[in-house]
Amino acid sequence: MTADLSFPPGFRWGVSTSAYQIEGAVAEGGRGPSTWDTFCAEPGKVLNGETGAVACDHYHRYAEDVALMRELGIDTYRFSFSWPRIQPDGTGPGNAAGLDFYDRLIDTLLGAGISPAPTLYHWDTPQPLEDAGGWLSRDITERFADYASVLAARFADRVPMWITINEPMVLTLMGYSLGAHAPGKELMFDALPVAHHQLLAHGRAVQALRAGGGVNIGIASNHAPTWAASDSAEDVEAAGLYDNLINWLFADPVLLGKYPAGYEAAMPGPVEDDLKVISTPLDWFGINHYSPVSVGAATGQADTAATDGIPLPPGLPFEPRALEGYERTDFGWPIVPAAFGEILRTFKDRYGDRLPPIYITENGCAINDVPVDGVVDDQRRIAYLDGYLRSLRSAIDDGVDVRGYFQWSLMDNFEWAAGYSQRFGLVHVDFETLERTPKASYHWLHDVIAKNRE
Ligand code: BGC
Repeated sequence: MTADLSFPPGFRWGVSTSAYQIEGAVAEGGRGPSTWDTFCAEPGKVLNGETGAVACDHYHRYAEDVALMRELGIDTYRFSFSWPRIQPDGTGPGNAAGLDFYDRLIDTLLGAGISPAPTLYHWDTPQPLEDAGGWLSRDITERFADYASVLAARFADRVPMWITINEPMVLTLMGYSLGAHAPGKELMFDALPVAHHQLLAHGRAVQALRAGGGVNIGIASNHAPTWAASDSAEDVEAAGLYDNLINWLFADPVLLGKYPAGYEAAMPGPVEDDLKVISTPLDWFGINHYSPVSVGAATGQADTAATDGIPLPPGLPFEPRALEGYERTDFGWPIVPAAFGEILRTFKDRYGDRLPPIYITENGCAINDVPVDGVVDDQRRIAYLDGYLRSLRSAIDDGVDVRGYFQWSLMDNFEWAAGYSQRFGLVHVDFETLERTPKASYHWLHDVIAKNRE
C-alpha cells in the first residue's frame, strides 16, 4: 500500500465509545432498566456471566477519560446517550440526573477543546419499551422521535454533530434474528420489521433534532465488502443476497429512499411514505468498518466468525465462509486493510451524488495485550491501524469524500456477548482496579494526529 498517513486539511480525528459499554452505574442517577441489563442477567447469554453494571465506571471517571482524550489530541468524541438514563421508562420530559450527567460530560469535553458527537441509540433500549414490543412495534418510532426532541432541547446549543442510531443491521441480526444480543429474540427473517422501524426512527429523529435546532446529523451504519467464495454462479448469487441483507438493506433506504428488490413487501406500515421520512437528507453518512466477509452457497461449510461464533440455522440461501490467508485479530476477525478502501469506493460508485460526505464512525480491533511492567506494547494494533489508515487515505485519493476517522475505542470495555474478553481500547483498563494505562497504540495515534496538525 503506497498511500501515507497524511490526511486533508480539516480532517477530523476522534474516538468512539457507547454508554452501556463504558458507563457502569446502572442503578444510579435514576437510570431505568435496559434490555442489556435484562439480557446480561440471563444465564448463558454473556461470556462468564459478565455485565455492564460497572464496566469502565466512566459515569464517575469521565473527567479522567476526557483528560486522556485531550492528551491523545483528538478533536471529536463520539459517545452515546443512554436512553434509559434520559427516559427511564422510555417516555416523558427527561430524567434530571441523567440529563445532568451528559451536561457535565459535554461541558468537560468543550472545556478540553473536544467536540461532542453523541449517538442517540447504541442498543440499550429502556426495558419498558421492549416489554411493549420493542423494535418490532411501530410505536417505538414515535417514542424515539420524542426522545430526540428531549435531547435537542437540552443539548443542541452545545452539540455540533449528532448521530441517530448505531448499526441498525447488528441490532436486527444479533438482537432479534439470532438472539445473540439483547433482547435475545430468535426470529430469523421475521425480524425484518426491526430494520424498518429503526430506519424510520432514524428518519424521524433527524427531523426532530433539526426541529429542535440540531445540526450536522448522520447515522453510524456498519458496512463491509461481501466477497463471493468462488467465481461459481451459485456462490456469486449467494454473496449478492447476503450483501443486500447486511449492507444495502440498511443504506439504500437512507441514501436512495428505496429498499433493495424484494424487501419492500416484507416491511410493515405505509412503506412508501415511510421511505420518504427514512431518506430525509443527511449532512453526512457514518460508516463503521471492521472486516470483509466471504459468502458462498449453502453447503454446510459455514464459518461462524462473521456472526461472532453464532451458527446460522440451516435452510438459508447463503453461508459465510472462512476467509483464508489473512492474519486475524484476537476476536478472530480477518485483518484486511484493502477491504476498507474497497467499501468506501463501493459507496461512491453506488450512490454517486446522493452520497453526502462520509465519516468513519468506527474502526478498530480486539488485540488482547495486557501490561508487562506497566507497558502495553500492542504492536499488532499499531500495524492494524497503520494498514487501515493507509487504505482509507487511498480511498480519499480516489475521490471518496471522507471527512474524519473515529477509532473504536478509546478504552477497553464491555464487548457485548463477549463480556470483557475482547480488548478494543487504545487505553488498557484493569477491570479489577479500573486503572487506565495508555497503550503503545495510543502514543502512536497521538503522533499520527500531531503530524497531521503540523
Ligand atoms: C459496535 C461496538 C462494538 C464494536 C466491536 C461495533 O459493532 O458498534 O459497540 O464494540 O463493533 O465489536
